[in-house]
Order: sequence, then C-alpha cells, then structure tokens
Amino acid sequence: MQKLTLESRDETIALGEKIGRLLKAGDVLVLDGDLGAGKTTFTKGLAKGLDIPDLIKSPTFTIIREYQDGRLPLYHMDAYRLENGGAEDLGLEEYFDSDGVSVVEWAQFVEDELPSDFLAIHFKRTDDENTRVLEFEPHGEHFTTLVAQVTN
Ligand SMILES: Nc1ncnc2c1ncn2[C@@H]1O[C@H](COP(=O)(O)OP(=O)(O)O)[C@@H](O)[C@H]1O
Ligand SMILES: [Mg+2]
Repeated sequence: MQKLTLESRDETIALGEKIGRLLKAGDVLVLDGDLGAGKTTFTKGLAKGLDIPDLIKSPTFTIIREYQDGRLPLYHMDAYRLENGGAEDLGLEEYFDSDGVSVVEWAQFVEDELPSDFLAIHFKRTDDENTRVLEFEPHGEHFTTLVAQVTN
C-alpha cells in the first residue's frame, strides 16, 4: 500500500488540495481513522482544490453537507452516527452517481453502498502530535493513477 507521512496540518491541507484538483464528477473518497486523525482537515484542502470558497465544517450532526460553489459540487458526509444502521435510507447512490465529488468520513458504516471505483484513505496518528501517516487504497484505474501521481 502507498503511504505518505505528513508532518503538519498545512501539509495535509496541501495534499488535499492537490488531490482535489485531480478529481472529476462522480468520484468517491472514503476516509477512516480515529477522531482527530485529520479527515476533516484533509477535506478542507480538498475543497480548496475544488475552488470551493466556503468554510468546511465537520458534518457530524448533519451527516451530509453540500457545497455547490466550486468547480464541482462537494458532498461531505460523516457516517459516524450510522453505526447502528440507517445508511440504506440516505440515498447515497444518488450522491455517488452524481455530478459531484463525495467524501465520506467513517465509511465503514456505508460499506455496502459503495461503488466499484473509489479511493480509501486510512489516516493514522503517530507519536508526534503533528505527524500523520496516510495509507492509500485505490479501487479502479482512475484512482490507481491518481495515487501514483500524488505519492511520487
Ligand atoms: N499533520 C496533520 N494533519 C492533519 N491534522 C493535523 C496534523 N497535525 C495536527 N493536526 C491537528 O489534528 C486535528 C485533526 O482534526 P480533524 O481533521 O477534525 O480530524 P478528524 O476529522 O479525523 O476527526 C486538527 O486539530 C489539526 O489541526
Ligand atoms: Mg472529522
């Protein structure tokens, strides 16, 4: 698996921005890792790369937040509260199949709804307070190419 070590919040934002610039309509990214691992921070960078001017907030209490003012719409989801089920009722395929980019935090709770092509990123904290290790797990050709581009 391809890995990147990011030694500050700004590096994580910059990586998100770089990936955001490479995304296309219908792309799905799933982010997992402990609370505070950097999933929402990464998504802020991604939004920057999509030219979204809005402030990205954690969607924990809303499950899905939509941002329509960028190069592509961004659907930012936090599935944390779906640990007891309910993912089937959200109509996720409509987001995954749309003209926008979907980013899902805590995607283990929506596993059954995922499309065949997606990019999983596993976020890990380290002994250093400001360092995170990201592991990339691409599914499909588009994301395999994208991961090669950003990890080289
Ligand atoms: N290298 C890093 N990458 C991302 N966040 C970092 C990093 N170093 C420190 N941080 C801090 O860790 C926290 C990550 O929080 P957040 O992105 O909300 O995590 P999550 O969404 O995974 O719960 C933020 O306060 C951020 O400033
Ligand atoms: Mg978060």
